[in-house]
Amino acid sequence: MAERHYHEPVMVRETLALLLTDPDGIYLDGTLGGGGHAAAILDGLREGKLIGFDRDPDAIAACRGAFGEELARGERSRVELVHGSYVLACSREELRGQVQGILLDLGVSSHQLDEPSRGFSYRFDAPLDLRFGGEASNEPTAAELLASLDERAIADILYRYGEERSSRRIARAIVAARRHAPIRTTGQLRAIVERCVHPRQRTDVLSRVFQALRIAVNRELEELERFLSCVPSLLCRGGRIVVITYHSLEDRIVKHSLREMAGKAQSQQSPLLRILTPKPLRPQPEEIARNRRARSAKLRAAERV
Ligand SMILES: C[S@@+](CC[C@H](N)C(=O)[O-])C[C@H]1O[C@@H](n2cnc3c(N)ncnc32)[C@H](O)[C@@H]1O
Repeated sequence: MAERHYHEPVMVRETLALLLTDPDGIYLDGTLGGGGHAAAILDGLREGKLIGFDRDPDAIAACRGAFGEELARGERSRVELVHGSYVLACSREELRGQVQGILLDLGVSSHQLDEPSRGFSYRFDAPLDLRFGGEASNEPTAAELLASLDERAIADILYRYGEERSSRRIARAIVAARRHAPIRTTGQLRAIVERCVHPRQRTDVLSRVFQALRIAVNRELEELERFLSCVPSLLCRGGRIVVITYHSLEDRIVKHSLREMAGKAQSQQSPLLRILTPKPLRPQPEEIARNRRARSAKLRAAERV
């Protein structure tokens, strides 16, 4: 069983109903987290195989524990864990046209948000990192981005990835503050943002600022676009993709890419996918009542034609 405290998986029933079409097929879970969805997929497999990806070493460690028994079967194991971006699947030649189902459950895990040392949340004072890969990754941290970008580039990030209307004011305050001392911690950033907005707006603005920085640091939207464009080449005929998103920027990208590949966009290309969810599915009210983090989830699915 997967570790339940790491992350409560969202819309599991809806995901399985759309994703699992052949118990002997190859399935990719691009965003393993605590392995909740992956465990549910594995439960539905017979001879099939599950290849799971995550950029976060904590997620891979959690899944190594959760799938220990299966992994111990060595060559006969039905699970493979890959520490790295789901984009890595695109360059695996042996997967071309062979994949029966792909799941992306985007965003952050509860573990990432609730583990103070990761610096993903403004609720705890920690180094301002925000990289999914943590210290093991060699990309710039959020602190390094805020130290190196000019005011306009910071404002652009806050506006584009956080849809934050006070982006310019906050960027100006960040640049003014860093003249006195480098911004190294979530607490420092929080204090700067709080000085820029009305107390009633603080929580929402802080959430948007941290979301924006996380998206920029991890190049989340670029990764998503790159991966979606290779999905048709991975899926076998009748193979399916299910994507769960948690904010409008991601959902827009998924909606437009799937539409484009279904031949519904301006481009004249012949359809590669058939859309299975003309409107995104939303969690049932009972699920939202049980798991607050499900409240913004939207699920879209498509099938290879
Ligand atoms: C919402 S959680 C997934 C939760 C998971 N479905 C479960 O049942 O526990 C999202 C996960 O995706 C990972 N992630 C985000 N972008 C990624 C990428 N480009 N490649 C691989 N993993 C990624 C994050 O590190 C995080 O662990």
